[in-house]
Amino acid sequence: MKNSLAIALVLGLNPFGVFAEDEATPKDRLIVETLTRLKRFDVSENDKWKGAVERTARSLRGEEGYFELVEQFTITAEAPELIRLVQHDPSSGEASKAVQLLFRLDQEKLLSNALAAGPKANRDAVAQLIGFVQTPAAKKLLESYGAGKHPPASSPAVNPAILANTEDIERIAKRKGNPVAGKVVFQKFCFSCHKAGEVGIDFGPGLSEIGSKLPKTELYLAIVKPNAGISFDYEGWTIQTKQGGILAGIISESDDVLTVRMVGGVSQKIKKADVSKREKMPISLMPDGLHLAMSEQELVDLVEFLTNLKSKGK
Ligand code: HEC
Repeated sequence: MKNSLAIALVLGLNPFGVFAEDEATPKDRLIVETLTRLKRFDVSENDKWKGAVERTARSLRGEEGYFELVEQFTITAEAPELIRLVQHDPSSGEASKAVQLLFRLDQEKLLSNALAAGPKANRDAVAQLIGFVQTPAAKKLLESYGAGKHPPASSPAVNPAILANTEDIERIAKRKGNPVAGKVVFQKFCFSCHKAGEVGIDFGPGLSEIGSKLPKTELYLAIVKPNAGISFDYEGWTIQTKQGGILAGIISESDDVLTVRMVGGVSQKIKKADVSKREKMPISLMPDGLHLAMSEQELVDLVEFLTNLKSKGK
């Protein structure tokens, strides 16, 4: 029995029904691998492939490659799991990726439900993630949520006037903060787009050595006025496809393919032939006003943390 089972596994057969119905069999994985290699990502017409892809995604939950798989094969069946990730911990990197993907899967409805239910702090956090997406669909959703009218309730707001001018920034830059507390602030507000050492998602510029690059006053400016100077190579673009899709992110291109890297670290490749319009965004992909959701002390701690991120030997 043991041996024949092993043989069945090697052959990719499933004669005894040993796998739970929703678990990916080795044969499923093989199908997915083959489809990926052949770049056959539209499996809607083939139930066998579709089943294999869906089971594989389910088995990959929480593991590396999960988001990429869901995105590549447009696996709508994973939408409930994605929304669960969003609501479970909206400040996590997973939640940020999940929001991005839910838009890609045309599941605005689920997000709009998430904005309508649950504790206010959670709903605000979800709204913040949607705000990072910056597509018309995302903007529409936020408008109906009434974002902007009330800043996140969980965090005490600083007087917005505080950092309106250079003197204010010079004054606050003299203060010393607590870098350990600042790391926590970073993890809450920044890590969904920036890598600092081991933490964070690689979307905006890496900040692991930012303390060697920018003095405190400029760190404050980068946070308070991200639109004042946009880093080269990190400009935002909106891409419209002939199929009617709209994407926003950082682009790189080869002869015939555009790669759009979106907030959350998810990338999508589009054939240039399928692009109907591309436009550079007039504003930074980094949202302004992030500091308004922090207390002044949190902001000071955050900048202290960033200042301490230095290249070795400097
Ligand atoms: C939605 C994504 C996103 C979030 C969230 C975000 N940033 Fe950014 N950030 C970017 C992008 C994209 C750039 C590059 C474009 C630009 O310079 O405006 C950038 C640029 C920067 C720069 C300039 C880097 C350089 O090398 O000059 C600093 C500093 C920075 N961010 C700090 C922060 C901090 C601190 C936070 C948290 C309070 C934060 N960012 C949150 C996307 C983000």
